[in-house]
Amino acid sequence: MSKDFKVKVLATGMAVPEKILTNFDLEKIVDTTDEWIRKRTGMVQRHIADENTAASDLAYEAAKNALQYANMEPKELDMIVISTVTSDYSFPSTACLLQEKLGCRDIPAFDVSAGCTGFIYGITIAKQFIETGYYNNILVIGVEILTKITNWKDRGTCVLFGDGAGAAILTRATKSDSSFIIDTYLGANGKVAELLIRKGGGSRNPISKKVIEQDMPFLEMEGNKIFRLAVKAMGDSAEIILKKNNLTGNDLDWLIPHQANLRIIYATAHRIKLPKEKVIINIQKYGNTSSASIPIALDEAIREGKIKRGDLVMLDAFGAGLTWGSVLFRY
Ligand code: ACO
Repeated sequence: MSKDFKVKVLATGMAVPEKILTNFDLEKIVDTTDEWIRKRTGMVQRHIADENTAASDLAYEAAKNALQYANMEPKELDMIVISTVTSDYSFPSTACLLQEKLGCRDIPAFDVSAGCTGFIYGITIAKQFIETGYYNNILVIGVEILTKITNWKDRGTCVLFGDGAGAAILTRATKSDSSFIIDTYLGANGKVAELLIRKGGGSRNPISKKVIEQDMPFLEMEGNKIFRLAVKAMGDSAEIILKKNNLTGNDLDWLIPHQANLRIIYATAHRIKLPKEKVIINIQKYGNTSSASIPIALDEAIREGKIKRGDLVMLDAFGAGLTWGSVLFRY
């Protein structure tokens, strides 16, 4: 495949709602404890959207943030890709709503559904368009408001999720640029789709009294089975992309894993023999924000001065589908 242009991450941004829900708050809602949540997940608190905030609102804040860091006007964008499973509406896409909010030109805008791996899928799609010279500047966002599809009676899931948005602007890099995306890798396995699913509200189980009574509009997850698959998928994905590019964990400056569970994060780092100090972790602050988790962690790490231009960074995720994937890039 001919690659005419290199692609780089020009700037990032993020946004989370103000309201915080702590483990202690959750103790009052379901039969759980701060100790259990910390020990089993690494989570301490998460940000929760209020009733007036939808995905496009958080996406807008994250996008403005990234555009500011990029010193770029919305009119300079050539395409918007949003990863979300909690869009404002079933249709139109959240990306189209954001295009209007930002005041962009009539550029293509669409959503991607790949669960927590969505940001990796989005980056991969955007990269192709820039590599071929088709577009110059693409806004990729991961945004989720999972707390609005959370079953607050199910302690196995309601303690896990938080809301947020993360954005990245990809642009064409010069041949001598030290910042560029090296490779991406994607995978999926629909055989285990039902392990993490929202059954109600689509064309299989349209909204009805029965569907609501059976809690189908809420997210359902077989956490234990997902856990084992996640450890394998994240580790495999990381190993495959490193091997494909003749690299090892030793070469990496940073790993930014999807923030679903601290034990999954450490297992992934262990698999590629990466010391914990090189892993970006913010699960304690935000919980699992699904496809927003990686871009939020990336933006925070850049802002905190951890990730610097030229650093070798790996993004690694898995999610509903099941899906998985990795991005290897020099920031
Ligand atoms: N508080 C207290 N006890 C709990 C809670 C809770 N919040 N939740 C479950 N338990 C109990 C269970 O009922 C069970 O009790 P039992 O032994 O009496 O039956 C016990 O704790 C152990 O339950 P497990 O489900 O085996 O606990 P596990 O160690 O697997 O942790 C968890 C559960 C945190 C959900 C874990 O399985 C996990 O993180 N799974 C992966 C989640 C994930 O990554 N999802 C994909 C991404 S999300 C997305 O794509 C939108």
